[in-house]
Amino acid sequence: MEQRRNLLKAAAASGVALVLPPAAQGQGNPKEARPQEGDRFVLGEGDKKGAVVKLDDLKAGGPPVTVYPQDVKSGTVRDGSRLNQVLMVRLDEAQLKNDTKSRAAQGIVAYSAVCTHTGCDGLSWEAGKALFKCPCHDTEFDAADGARVVAGPAPRRLPALPLKVVDGYITAAGAFIGRAGVIQ
Ligand code: FES
Repeated sequence: MEQRRNLLKAAAASGVALVLPPAAQGQGNPKEARPQEGDRFVLGEGDKKGAVVKLDDLKAGGPPVTVYPQDVKSGTVRDGSRLNQVLMVRLDEAQLKNDTKSRAAQGIVAYSAVCTHTGCDGLSWEAGKALFKCPCHDTEFDAADGARVVAGPAPRRLPALPLKVVDGYITAAGAFIGRAGVIQ
């Protein structure tokens, strides 16, 4: 795992896109399987790392939180792949474009946290414009409009993850729309 993480980091830093074979994309291992309908989410960083994400964890206007999906039945946190990192942010519902609004839950939207250019993560947040900004080559993604690319070299949006609220928990309403990570 560590070796693969280092390989991905090196590839992202060098600007070289890295495409993993299916076996390396986590198919078959529940910890590496992509988010699925019915998954809840746990915080991926900070003092409350590992705690189930609650509506109160998301402040209106951001900043986003980085989370991982969790299978509710088994309790398995799907943190075995960096491609399962999800950026979740709460925006003003009136700000959301149509497709984005239909995938949101109480103004909360979610996207893959891995840039579609060469696979960096650690995207920053520009609150006033609701933009995610990639630290590697400065691509900007519009969180209110399906994470479309508004500047920079990334070839496509960050894949969106549809959400719903079930029993008071933020829950995945489906899989990523599009493939997480880099496609060549
Ligand atoms: S990895 Fe190049 S802009 Fe994100």
